[in-house]
Amino acid sequence: MLDCKPFIKWVGGKRKLLPELVKRIPQDIYIYFEPFMGGSALFWHLKPKKAILIDINRELVNTYKCVQQNVEALILDLQKHPYAREYYYQIRNSDRTFEYTNWTDIQRASRFIYLNKTCFNGLYRVNSKGQYNVPFGQYKNPKIVDAENLRACSQALQDTEILADSFLSIESKITVRDFVYFDPPYIPLNETSNFTSYSSKGFDTEMQIALQKLCQRLDRRGVRFMLSNSAAPLVFDLYSEFQIELVDMPRSINSNANKRGKIKEVLITNY
Ligand SMILES: C[S@@+](CC[C@H](N)C(=O)[O-])C[C@H]1O[C@@H](n2cnc3c(N)ncnc32)[C@H](O)[C@@H]1O
Repeated sequence: MLDCKPFIKWVGGKRKLLPELVKRIPQDIYIYFEPFMGGSALFWHLKPKKAILIDINRELVNTYKCVQQNVEALILDLQKHPYAREYYYQIRNSDRTFEYTNWTDIQRASRFIYLNKTCFNGLYRVNSKGQYNVPFGQYKNPKIVDAENLRACSQALQDTEILADSFLSIESKITVRDFVYFDPPYIPLNETSNFTSYSSKGFDTEMQIALQKLCQRLDRRGVRFMLSNSAAPLVFDLYSEFQIELVDMPRSINSNANKRGKIKEVLITNY
């Protein structure tokens, strides 16, 4: 199978942590689950035979489905976008118009990738109405269309189910032969590091507790899981019954260049 990498930039993307993640992956996985897929860096690296990818962000999931099912039409549509500030705002604000409801899945996926490649820092942020509100980003020559990688990603997705849903919806699908990698929005280390949500609904402490309970239920059934999170005290409290390892994560998405550097994160496993 062809090499592939995330076709979008994503806050919390795990490309830089791959060596740490890969060395902890069991060899005998039947179905690989990634219930907070985002850019799904680990999935592209592993290219598992069978997988289920889930994310609550419907625009993201629509984009993955277009890559999977109609990659040539998507590549063609992507080629129409110029890198220009005025055009960017026109495309960005299209989700405030009535016509947007008639856009095809391909047009929406193409807009999603275009905005991701040309917006400020590759952020995905929407307001309470679900309208995308990230400003234009300054780049030398952003690669809006990476046809080769999109085709490789499409191939890697052929035996994958992609769902727009909550991580809580998948429990009954998981069997003891499977493996789950959870990469939720992180518990903030302090109040200022609280990145504003990937969707119009946030991911609060209650959700973190619901996730921990799901992990406990999976563990009781003998299902193996790995989970990443910040090194916040609450993470150590919630997961104290499992292995918790500290790893170095180089940070790249931070608007303040001085704050880019290494930061400790945790990896939790139950096997
Ligand atoms: C830290 S990111 C995952 C990054 C990913 N591992 C990567 O390599 O790019 C967390 C993801 O969880 C998704 N998410 C947030 N709340 C969710 C929920 N309740 N159920 C499923 N996905 C959710 C967000 O949309 C976001 O894409």
